[in-house]
Amino acid sequence: MDSSLRSSEWYSGEDRNAYIHRAWMRRGVPGSAFEGRPQIAIANTASDLTPCNAHLTEVAQSVKNGIYEAGGIPLELPVVSLGETQVRPTAMLWRNMAAMATEEMLRANPIDGVVLLGGCDKTIPSLLMAAASVDLPAVVVPGGPMLTGTFRGEALGCGTDVWRLSEEVRAGALSQEQFVKSESSMIRSRGHCNTMGTASTMALVAEALGTVLPGLAGTPAPDSRLLEAAHETGRLAVQLVAEERRPSTFLTKASFHNAIVALAAIGGSTNAVVHLLAIAGRLGIDLTVDDFDRIGAEVPLLVNLQPAGRYLMDDLQRAGGFHAVLREVRDLLDPSALTITGKPLVDYLDDARIWDPEVIAPREKPLQPAAGISVLRGSLAPGGAIIKPSAASPHLLSHRGRAVVFDSIEDFHARIDDPDLDIDAHSVMVLRGCGPKGYPGMPEVSNMPLPKKLLEQGIRDMVRICDGRMSGTAYGTVVLHVTPEAAAGGPLSLVQTGDWISMDVPARRLDLEVPAEELAARVPNAATVKGYANPGRGWEKLYVDHVLQADRGADLDFLVGSSGSQVSRESH
Ligand code: FES
Ligand code: MG
Repeated sequence: MDSSLRSSEWYSGEDRNAYIHRAWMRRGVPGSAFEGRPQIAIANTASDLTPCNAHLTEVAQSVKNGIYEAGGIPLELPVVSLGETQVRPTAMLWRNMAAMATEEMLRANPIDGVVLLGGCDKTIPSLLMAAASVDLPAVVVPGGPMLTGTFRGEALGCGTDVWRLSEEVRAGALSQEQFVKSESSMIRSRGHCNTMGTASTMALVAEALGTVLPGLAGTPAPDSRLLEAAHETGRLAVQLVAEERRPSTFLTKASFHNAIVALAAIGGSTNAVVHLLAIAGRLGIDLTVDDFDRIGAEVPLLVNLQPAGRYLMDDLQRAGGFHAVLREVRDLLDPSALTITGKPLVDYLDDARIWDPEVIAPREKPLQPAAGISVLRGSLAPGGAIIKPSAASPHLLSHRGRAVVFDSIEDFHARIDDPDLDIDAHSVMVLRGCGPKGYPGMPEVSNMPLPKKLLEQGIRDMVRICDGRMSGTAYGTVVLHVTPEAAAGGPLSLVQTGDWISMDVPARRLDLEVPAEELAARVPNAATVKGYANPGRGWEKLYVDHVLQADRGADLDFLVGSSGSQVSRESH
């Protein structure tokens, strides 16, 4: 047994405990497995209830082949999996639980390294949070996007077109029958959502961070090259153990710098902000929400994908892939940031080419000159709020209007289509009680559908403000992640219908135009407080008691940082 391996603490020696550890593993694992071979876990989020990840068991087989080939022992470890569309009240409530459970199982078991198989929105973030906190050699295989489905001869973007088509129905422009008919065309194949939603974003951002085999992210799920790269990743995992390359040895602030540049250039999901902040928190890297604005704001938008643009992930791959995008912004990347291979990210970009400038715009002709996420501050968001200008309406980016306030998403649904609701196109829709504590879990409800009566007038966007999140596939002039959230006592809890709110994105301001003395005299009304979650037991209770605000990645306070991989005690 190679005594430098962590797993040798379980397997080496002649005593009773080593006997127990080996003997029970012999079912299918040969005796030679315990003689100095790295034990590599494959943290697999495949699940029938996470349809976007259901194919990962086949991917795991390719990873296993690579691990064996390189002399390691592959050990598949099913971990908590979150199906974004299925899990209630919101998959985000369970992200930290998935991260905690995965972290603990990686630590508790006799493994030397891990390959992380994720896809659907929360799965890659939770795996990376876990890997950062246990700090074992780890590499991600993103499961890849699905192929493009079509309806009536046109491509359907999953997520984005659900929002779009449902608004068309409410506006009377599409029949209910046609809407339902489109349902069977939405998901064409295995894989995660094919828009630049959170899943696509996190796969690409994970590669920009350096945690994916360079060139792999964005490969569609049914593409043979995914399995080839999965096999290669299995080999790499064994090498990582030999070279002792752990998250703490190569992930730096520079890695996050590159992730933020990439996030802006691809027009990625706003959810990446909370996920990257949470991952950085696990690594002890001082990343703040303002870094997203400072590093990303001036980065041009180069990728013409829904929701900000037109195409889908399959097109991005055909047009040259993620590296073609990164090559255009190479000068903005930090050349010191290393990838999982030990070489810098920028070293992989030489051969990249744009094959279709409609999908990947060249730097000289960007889709938008400055695409990054903007961080707004002011009397309505002292801790900051974010907006994705590339998905917003330019004419609304500087706007002043009267608030129409909703105390919960249920309150919103009950009143939004009331013909007597006093609201017009200039109003600012405010939804509260949707932050990490308030809901709990910070659901993707911030992109409130517009009132039917305004849709019928042809209005398609309005300013919306919320302490929740927005689906990465959604669009609109939506201010998100307002911090502190209402349930944590933020000024959002004190807004009244009719108050004037001003938003000035170029100046990065978000203000409630109520005099400070008047605001100080207000208290949240009973209906507002009634909208906040108040769980009595279980994970929800633990979560509400310990969750941090969005500016800290909505992690739990006691999960920030790392405990490493040490376990000192034995069970027998
Ligand atoms: Fe799984 Fe969109 S629902 S990635
Ligand atoms: Mg989502």
